[in-house]
Amino acid sequence: MGRLEQDQELRAALRATAGRKRREMYGLGVYVRGLIEFSNICKQNCMYCGIRSSNRRAQRYRLHPDEILECCKEGYELGYRTFVLQSGEDDWYTTDMLVSLIMEIKRKCPDAAVTLSIGERDNECYTRLFQAGADRFLLRHETASASLYQSLHPTMTFDNRRDRLRALKEIGYQVGAGFMVGLPGQSLEDLAEDLLYLQELDPDMIGIGPFIPHEGTPLRHEPAGSLETTLDMIALTRLIIPGALIPATTAMGTAHPYGRELALQAGANVVMPNLSPVAVRPKYTLYNGKICTGDESAQCRFCLELRIREAGFDMDMGRGDSLKR
Ligand code: 5AD
Repeated sequence: MGRLEQDQELRAALRATAGRKRREMYGLGVYVRGLIEFSNICKQNCMYCGIRSSNRRAQRYRLHPDEILECCKEGYELGYRTFVLQSGEDDWYTTDMLVSLIMEIKRKCPDAAVTLSIGERDNECYTRLFQAGADRFLLRHETASASLYQSLHPTMTFDNRRDRLRALKEIGYQVGAGFMVGLPGQSLEDLAEDLLYLQELDPDMIGIGPFIPHEGTPLRHEPAGSLETTLDMIALTRLIIPGALIPATTAMGTAHPYGRELALQAGANVVMPNLSPVAVRPKYTLYNGKICTGDESAQCRFCLELRIREAGFDMDMGRGDSLKR
């Protein structure tokens, strides 16, 4: 038997093992989070990201807090019980504004969880947002290699990233970390470091997706990360941190027509359909070819529900808190 075939067998076994572990921990339910991409204005300049500050061609937008609240109310009526508020690092949204928004969402949708994905802020801000009722916070570590991190993030530091993740945990958030697979210059050793870092941090949520080039970035000509390697990383993550909430990311669905289904089979157990107003969706492009940005995607919930069932899982509209809580 050739090496590739052997690898393929090993891969299949790894994914099946991770699939069983996920079933043991979470059953066949897939948690659903309504994603609201509320601003693509960003002060950072990450080399891979389509909304980096120096991409002049990005069409920038910002949703008013009332519009964000409206998205949540619509989602709530559709049955969503987690809202992920994601944006570039946009200081137009002051701590005070975010505090009132979170309190309003919690008032209108009392049994829903609020997840923030707004990047790096100071301890005071993180603490006040938590006190206002935010439950969870996503801040991918992006890569556990200090040198790779530094080369990809000219406006940020590796140490600060780790410090922010620690702070979020200490404040009491359910914390999400995660990384990209196939970043230019990333080695398999670097990916092993990602897994070791996750084991040490022990986050509640872990987002993993392939790097996909964006035409408006310096990495436009670099090859995309491998879907197979990304699936390997998802499966290994499920085995190393069995209780983690692991999304089948949009980047997986962009890399392959069945990428999200494959991720679920390899141990993922969360999906994040887009709840953003359809008019702004095409503008929140972190990478080329992003799926679910057209008119036809207005009702992501129903499309995903079908696909989840087809893949052998059940959609779970509950809050889906971390097993650690
Ligand atoms: N390819 C894949 N993922 C990307 N992200 C940003 N840009 C890209 C890209 N070009 C990921 C980062 C970020 C998350 C919101 O999206 O990991 O944390």
